[in-house]
Amino acid sequence: MAESTGASTGLSDAMRDRMALALDVDDLVEANRLARQLRPWFGVAKIGLELFTAAGPDAINSMLDLGYDVFLDLKLHDIPTTVRKSAGVAGALGVTYLTMHASGGPAMLRAGVEGFLESAHRAGLPTPTALAITVLTSDSDAPAHIVPNRLRLAVEAGCGGIVCAASDLVDVRQMAPRTMRVVPGIRAVGAERHDQPKAVTPAEAIDAGADLLVVGRAVTIADDPVAAAAALFAELD
Ligand code: C5P
Repeated sequence: MAESTGASTGLSDAMRDRMALALDVDDLVEANRLARQLRPWFGVAKIGLELFTAAGPDAINSMLDLGYDVFLDLKLHDIPTTVRKSAGVAGALGVTYLTMHASGGPAMLRAGVEGFLESAHRAGLPTPTALAITVLTSDSDAPAHIVPNRLRLAVEAGCGGIVCAASDLVDVRQMAPRTMRVVPGIRAVGAERHDQPKAVTPAEAIDAGADLLVVGRAVTIADDPVAAAAALFAELD
């Protein structure tokens, strides 16, 4: 299949840099194939636990070679020293976005932010962004006050952004207007939602104040990922 060029997508470079491709696969060959095909629509490649467990730092280097910013979604949660050191490795490897669980508490979050930023600076790289996970979408028992509490914690610890559901965007924007808002659960109108009960379209997420949109199965498991991306983003720009 011929690879599409950026010019044919209709997405501006600025909009493309707000799209993160979730490479939730266990094989670097498959991840590379998807990343190469979908590069015209995405500026950021998200490597999660599945791909990182399978391929480790090779996955990061492959995505950097394709020109992506790397989003390492390891959702770190451990003692502060361990998180500081792990985040430091990510910073030195050239990761731009790294996730940590806000439920790990202020000392852990601060240690992670420091380790991440200091290593990137030592390597002469631009300042990266630590992202806090407030609540997993699978945690349907989480009480309502937990998102604002964890958001406050994340901001005080120096996290530059948070991952939240589209339904939390308005509150998050009011409470922390300068914090980057990262939103998963993106689907085309009327598409299969899988396990994303709060799915929104790209335009809805952007209108509600999302800065970075995480898109996975809506394109990665489509029979034709390129056509799926073209259809998903057709209403933007
Ligand atoms: O649903 P989709 O495949 O687009 O998911 C993309 C990303 O969204 C996943 O990599 C995961 O990090 C996140 N996710 C989530 N809640 C779910 C399922 C996935 O936040 N219920």
